[in-house]
Amino acid sequence: MHVPTLIARKRDGAELEAGEIRELVEGFTQGEVPDYQMAAFAMAVYFRRMTLAETTALTMAMMETGDCFEYPADRPAVVDKHSTGGIGDKVSLVLAPLVACAGCWVPMVSGRGLGITGGTLDKLESIPNFRTDLEIAEAQKQVAELGVVMMGQTDRFCPADRKIYALRDVTGTVPSIPLITASIMSKKLAESLDRLVLDVKFGTGAFMRNRTDAETLASAMIAVGQEMGVEVHAILNPMSEPTGQAVGNALEVCEALECLEGSGPLDLRGSVLELAERIAGVSIERLESYLDDGSARSKFDEMVEAQGGNPADLGRLAEIHRAPVIREVLAEVTGKVTDVDAGLIGQAALQLGAGRARATDGVDFAVGFDRFVKSSETIHAGEPVCRIHARTETDFEMAEAMIEQAVKISPH
Ligand code: URA
Repeated sequence: MHVPTLIARKRDGAELEAGEIRELVEGFTQGEVPDYQMAAFAMAVYFRRMTLAETTALTMAMMETGDCFEYPADRPAVVDKHSTGGIGDKVSLVLAPLVACAGCWVPMVSGRGLGITGGTLDKLESIPNFRTDLEIAEAQKQVAELGVVMMGQTDRFCPADRKIYALRDVTGTVPSIPLITASIMSKKLAESLDRLVLDVKFGTGAFMRNRTDAETLASAMIAVGQEMGVEVHAILNPMSEPTGQAVGNALEVCEALECLEGSGPLDLRGSVLELAERIAGVSIERLESYLDDGSARSKFDEMVEAQGGNPADLGRLAEIHRAPVIREVLAEVTGKVTDVDAGLIGQAALQLGAGRARATDGVDFAVGFDRFVKSSETIHAGEPVCRIHARTETDFEMAEAMIEQAVKISPH
């Protein structure tokens, strides 16, 4: 393979062979193809895009640079859900144990937050001693025993994606539909799934800013899944306001626990049930019963215990991660809430320290927002719009100013 020729062919719009794509991905992962050539290739893909055959070849090549999950032949359905990322999106924390209650196996490999969108791993790590760094063999054993594991990528899980994503992040090549598709699907397909549901978000708080782009991404991911023999469903969801009423790591775990106990915000419960129904193989009513009768909460507790945490800490999480400044922001007028801008709220949470600007940064588990008003609610002057959890008074004031911009009230 002559890499400069391959890059030039993609630059000129040619369709590459599966074997060529595989050699390039393997060469890059093994350090034989340098960063500058892979960066040029990614930029060529960004402008010229890829056919379905090329995207599938890229996905398979990336997946096969690492280990895949393996299960016994007589296993139940192996399923998972992936979200393209949102603000306050704690759906996975509820959905994974819930779907395990329906008898499925859920080997959920998740990521950390980057930019304004939060990450499931950061939220889980707010539970003291909860381990997300499981090896695949350990994860497979836990799935067989409990039906659910929630973990991060290991060094041996899709190493090509880790390297390519890091390069895309610094070369302006993240927002490319074939590259996003291959990145997400290589990781999900390495879980050796039977069924996958995708929660594709669009709007100010999402990666895809409009519905058309979200549809294109969803179609590409469904097509690649089908080519690889996996049943893939996609649900498009606007991310115009945060999911639920809490944004921030420990604060979101507390809200997810409420949902796991059959209460909590209705939009969160609705999203969980809609997505879970596509993969669980049981009715919505059955899934609701697992939330309402405590089964889903017990499954979550079992998972926390299996992964090193203490379920007794869950009820104390708000105390364990208590921010020094916790105060309400009050509405100045009476009226209907017309906008709760997820993008601005995600930005404010990031600036409070709940997220990370660079992949190597740490996160503050305690900070963020809770008790947020929802769009179309009526609010009276002097009533709380939300509560801010901040590290310092200065941080509180910064977040308060951003919330005043993010929440629009149309006076009566
Ligand atoms: N999430 C991923 O895992 N990869 C992308 O390329 C974009 C979002």
